[in-house]
Amino acid sequence: MRLKLLAAAALLTLAACGKSPSPPATEGVTDAMIAAAPEGEWLSYGRDYAEQRFSPLTQISDQNVGQLGLAWSADLDTARGQEATPLMHDGVLYITTAWSMVKAYDARTGALKWSYDPKVPRETLVRVCCDAVNRGAAIYGDKVYVAALDGRLIAIDQKSGKEVWSKVVVPNQVDYAITGAPRIAKGKVLIGSAGSEYRARGYLAAFDAQTGDELWRFQTVPGNPADGFENEAMEKAAKTWTGKWWEFGGGGTVWDSITYDPKTNLVYFGTGNAEPWNPKTADRAGDSLYTSSIVAVNADNGEYAWHYQETPEDRWDYDSNAQIMVADLMLDGKSTHVVMHAPKNGVFYVLDAKTGKFLTGTPFTKITWASSIDPVTGRPNINPEARYEQTGKMYLGSPGIYGAHTWHPMSFSPKTGLVYIPTNEAPFAYLADNAFEPGSIGMQLGLAPVLTPADKAARGAVRAMLSGALIAWDPVARKEVWRVPFEGPSNGGTLATAGNLVFQGTARGEFVAYSADKGAKLWSFPAQTGIIAAPMSYSLDGEQYVAILVGWGGLWDLFGSVAADKSGPTRNISRLLVFKLGAVGKLPVAPPMADRVLDPPPLTGKPNQVVRGEALYARYCGVCHGGEAISGGMVPDLRHSPTLNSGDAIKSIVIGGALKHNGMVSFKEAISGDDAEAVRHYLIKRANEDKALGEH
Ligand code: HEC
Repeated sequence: MRLKLLAAAALLTLAACGKSPSPPATEGVTDAMIAAAPEGEWLSYGRDYAEQRFSPLTQISDQNVGQLGLAWSADLDTARGQEATPLMHDGVLYITTAWSMVKAYDARTGALKWSYDPKVPRETLVRVCCDAVNRGAAIYGDKVYVAALDGRLIAIDQKSGKEVWSKVVVPNQVDYAITGAPRIAKGKVLIGSAGSEYRARGYLAAFDAQTGDELWRFQTVPGNPADGFENEAMEKAAKTWTGKWWEFGGGGTVWDSITYDPKTNLVYFGTGNAEPWNPKTADRAGDSLYTSSIVAVNADNGEYAWHYQETPEDRWDYDSNAQIMVADLMLDGKSTHVVMHAPKNGVFYVLDAKTGKFLTGTPFTKITWASSIDPVTGRPNINPEARYEQTGKMYLGSPGIYGAHTWHPMSFSPKTGLVYIPTNEAPFAYLADNAFEPGSIGMQLGLAPVLTPADKAARGAVRAMLSGALIAWDPVARKEVWRVPFEGPSNGGTLATAGNLVFQGTARGEFVAYSADKGAKLWSFPAQTGIIAAPMSYSLDGEQYVAILVGWGGLWDLFGSVAADKSGPTRNISRLLVFKLGAVGKLPVAPPMADRVLDPPPLTGKPNQVVRGEALYARYCGVCHGGEAISGGMVPDLRHSPTLNSGDAIKSIVIGGALKHNGMVSFKEAISGDDAEAVRHYLIKRANEDKALGEH
């Protein structure tokens, strides 16, 4: 008996000390293969560990790209934003789609091998800012990994498409969601979460690729000091916060960039904004570490190595989640191992990869939040007027909440030495909301709703400020070399190839090839739908292919409505398109764009009802249904809703939850029957205003 107990105790101790991790894969896709991806393959989100998105293939080049045609296409069974980059290994193309589904195709013919649906509950939509998107899978050994929107990490058998294991990896399924692509490092699967507009405490975690067991977790912001700190890094970070930040979560979520660097054995990752956006609402002062930063940890145990905070005191939603790229650059005559980053705050950073030392930081677009960046410390000089909660005045900030560049991947060509960045010009009017109280459902922003005005001239002025561009940036000379301007923001990610080409899709729905050195437009293909994802390239049997997922969405609709308006017809037709030289495939004829006429009932609501409805709409509905009730095309445009005619109908949806299976959850905890009626009157007012302006 005693012996048995002892043995049991020993086992318990073993478990408590941490399980011994499974060894790295030796068959199928291995670490060595991801580190130096075979020329024709694309094995990780950014092709290989360096995340340069550079294909060494040269068959398709600036000389012959005019002959590129559609080899095959596959229609997807979802009509939401497609953000994933396909992976290609051993003749099979793996994609993920909106709602975290995974599909495997024969990369030559497009024949579907298998399809996996994690059946994410559609109500999950209320926990994500920006659509039910997923940015891609990881492949390793004989498995495919996907992180589902509802917070599960799932391993699937590469051959059969059958689930091997599935595990909830988020702390709770209310404040956290996952949209990012998992990455691999030495037998581990790395993934963080989204949620910095909710009550999330950011982290990056590592899971055993074989078993799904958690191996380590690095929190990006400190928790309640009364509970003790997990490590010294948290203790230090806590000194840069005030108030009771842990009650709000803190933010700093790791929702996109994760880069493993075999050379330093570090994992670099970008952290999201601090929450709430308006620091005053949580008595938040100080830098709020490690939000809006790049953090590096040891890949083996998740121990802190270094951090560089790009945006101290974040109050502008300046996530630092854009992809982190590793490269060796010639700086001051010597080859330097660096990370390159172009986050939302509009500054292009080059840091020493091993130490995190700030090397350079140069604005790649107009920035108004900082007047300069200290060339030695890398600390920005924040403009006093940008501290809108202190001035009490509206601050028209550049970049705005949408960011100068966000998750849409950039690429780097070692041949031209240029980084190809899909950028946005999208200022935002920041104004503190003094009456802010964090709602039960909704966003913890603390900003007053300064949306697009109903006045046509004012709306025109707001729209005129929005645009986008593809910028070719020289990270050594720290200057723009060429640019292609776009009418609107939110254009797709880029691919650079050794054939002197850069590929990019646009919000307007064109898939384009440019010469990498000069930016000359050499080829284009009408995709029938807005493109936000990044293309990739692979080769099989001596033929080079270029593949891309198309399908508009992925926007915070508060902003997307205006972006869509600017970029033209950006409806969603979700597809995988694959091109090769000499192919002549055609897409099915696209259905005509619906030309709906606004037909609201007359406005009968009392003025105070309409005003209340507007405030409620801005707080609870605009995030999905669009600023000023103009939808970005993903979610119904409520100005057109038949429910405007019936108080009962709108109540059955908004309070009764009649459409919750489609992502329109019940707001009964936050909204009363009178509130729903007030929102209806506000919507009627907006619809009538726009009808009078002759809009649709
Ligand atoms: C998390 C995103 C989200 C939020 C927030 C949201 N909705 Fe919705 N809403 C949806 C989706 C998705 C649909 C479409 C459901 C469907 O297709 O059945 C929808 C549909 C509706 C409809 C039916 C539209 C029609 O077709 O006539 C109404 C009415 C509506 N929402 C009102 C509201 C109101 C009022 C609020 C704020 C209190 C709100 N919604 C907040 C996502 C959202």
